[in-house]
Amino acid sequence: MSELAGLSFETRWLGRPHEHHAELASTNDRALAWARAGAPHGALVTADAQTAGRGRLGRAWASPPGEDLYMSLVLRPGAAEGLGALALAVGAGLREGLAAFVPDARLKWPNDVLCGGRKLAGILCEARWSGGAPEVVVGIGVNVGRRVFTGPLADTATSLARELAVAPGRAEVLARALPALEEALEAFLAGGFSAIRGRYEPHCALTGQVVSVEVGRGAERRIAARAMGFDVDGALRVAPLDGGAPLRVESGDVWLAEG
Ligand code: BTN
Repeated sequence: MSELAGLSFETRWLGRPHEHHAELASTNDRALAWARAGAPHGALVTADAQTAGRGRLGRAWASPPGEDLYMSLVLRPGAAEGLGALALAVGAGLREGLAAFVPDARLKWPNDVLCGGRKLAGILCEARWSGGAPEVVVGIGVNVGRRVFTGPLADTATSLARELAVAPGRAEVLARALPALEEALEAFLAGGFSAIRGRYEPHCALTGQVVSVEVGRGAERRIAARAMGFDVDGALRVAPLDGGAPLRVESGDVWLAEG
């Protein structure tokens, strides 16, 4: 039996109920279907493997069996206002949970968790309307046991197994992550980005750094800018190095400049 099956967590509502699968196309797809069928706020889907795991911006999320954590949460926030920063709250909570293993984990806006400058975990939020209220699925992938990354991940990804002498199991990582996520989500759902700013900002790897941001469509619109901080809604504020007016970055990718 999988180490992720039949677990109970030290949470009040997050991770209840919990459904575990040996293999899914994507835990987000299963959570979206379950949400449509009435899954409650907090419901959790995990899988040992995904055959069509997806990441942000249309990318694939490689999901080999048994090594890493693939999970999706169903959230019913009640109102859509301010939800744009939900992924930041998830990132903040996830970083706090993972800090039990890697205290120096950092956030790369909007919501990647980095360790030693490499990606340790990613978050994909997908939302839709249901009966006049938003229904959100938060997908989280954490590299736990995988030691070998190939292709473009070879130079950009890491895992707990690569960072630590003794790697935790997936169940232990999940048990640490869920209470921290629950706390961050409760704060965010009650008070928006300002309620979690203090859990996000000090841990953001970008603040004060020179970054490359997309200001329009395509790589040709990429500019170099200094990351200044965050607006009240969680948008990233950057000052272009060419002296142009400060800009808000609301979505897309941001890269730390080389060197
Ligand atoms: C990213 O950084 O691009 C987001 C990656 C999100 C991956 C997780 S794995 C569990 C869940 N199911 C998916 O298909 N994607 C998310």
